[in-house]
Amino acid sequence: MISQELNDSITRVGRGTDAGEVLRRYWQPAALSEELNVKRPVVPVRLLGEDLVLFRDEEGKLGLIQRNCPHRGADMCFGRLEDNGLRCPFHGWHFNRDGQCVEQPAEPEGSKMHEQIRARSYPVVERAGVVWAYMGPGEAPAFPAFDCFAAPDSHVFAFKGLWECNWLQAMEVGIDPAHASFLHRFLQDEDPEDSYGKQFRDKAVNTDIPMTRLLREFPRPEVRAEETDFGLKITALRDLGDGQVHVRITNQIFPEAICIPMSREMTITQWHVPIDDENCYWYSIFTSFDKPVDKELMREQRLKEHTLPDYAPVKNKRNNYGYNPEEQATETYTGMGLDINVHDQWAVESMGAIQDRTDEHLGKSDTAIIRYRRMLRAAIAAVKDGRDADLPMQSTDLDAIKGPISIDAIAADGDIDKAYVTEDKARRDHCSWTTALEAAE
Ligand code: FES
Ligand SMILES: [Fe+2]
Repeated sequence: MISQELNDSITRVGRGTDAGEVLRRYWQPAALSEELNVKRPVVPVRLLGEDLVLFRDEEGKLGLIQRNCPHRGADMCFGRLEDNGLRCPFHGWHFNRDGQCVEQPAEPEGSKMHEQIRARSYPVVERAGVVWAYMGPGEAPAFPAFDCFAAPDSHVFAFKGLWECNWLQAMEVGIDPAHASFLHRFLQDEDPEDSYGKQFRDKAVNTDIPMTRLLREFPRPEVRAEETDFGLKITALRDLGDGQVHVRITNQIFPEAICIPMSREMTITQWHVPIDDENCYWYSIFTSFDKPVDKELMREQRLKEHTLPDYAPVKNKRNNYGYNPEEQATETYTGMGLDINVHDQWAVESMGAIQDRTDEHLGKSDTAIIRYRRMLRAAIAAVKDGRDADLPMQSTDLDAIKGPISIDAIAADGDIDKAYVTEDKARRDHCSWTTALEAAE
């Protein structure tokens, strides 16, 4: 349980808020690159409670500027994409991709007023199929050398989805290894051969045990969380008996991402990005350590569950997430179908727009959540004191931050560290674009 004041501090994201100022010190996913693959690449973006417009100019470069025209506030999403910038249809004021006003055709000839007019704008870059924005002070930081950024374009695929709740509860489901044994429980095991692009449908590594069975039959993991340069390394241990331990390594990447194994072939690096206080997008980068990603299949699978242009899930609170009590009795723990994303969505949206943490009771299985909140509070305090360098990844050599290792392994002899490092090395040894992580341990 925490106070209302602390809950507000760690959840609210507007400019000048505690958590909002921490989030602004990191690159934020603003859109998928695919959203701009249209004839008129101009898309609305609402990010950290700010309304913006993203566009690609005639030089192919991106601009992200405030949505309301600095003149009298008309909506620039309806702007004319011309003359290498965006022109407001109301009085023709013209802005370049940096937000500088370069022309005011209704003002007297020779007027220099436009030189003083600048739309709020933020730097943007494209990486791994995602357009990233930096909304903080000073120079934008570099990107860490995480796998999802190191892999070639052929081996990454990005997608996103809308969740109607605060970003923090969305992120916290990703650092809670115990819930997979319940929320994502399947009462029957599917053929692992049909597992492409899906989570928890593969066999557990080096065994013939489907992950579904392993999660179902071993529901009490020991959860360990350790601070790292990038956030937290989370180890979930399931004792299978006969001296065997199932090890699952997942990660929290500060401030609002996770990196988890999806299958033997792929990992998911997922940001939970605030749209505003009460809505967020998950942005996932699927990274393959084996064959190039079958992007068409991955996209098709996910478009079946989402509607464009908002990437809003087909199953949602307005249709009870497709809840079927019959299915709940016989097939799944939730009765909400086989897509585990829907389960997570229900869990985090059903808490309410912003979870009331004045009335929660954290247990031992919530260890990583407790550690994460401690890190977030420390970061909030550091920003308030002007100690930005104390934030994770703000003063470290980002090229040295690799991985992070996200993998399932079996420790047959109780040597947990050896088991997952060996498994990760084997995966990287067979991979065309990465090499073993020297600094893994
Ligand atoms: S409101 Fe945009 S130019 Fe007047
Ligand atoms: Fe989940």
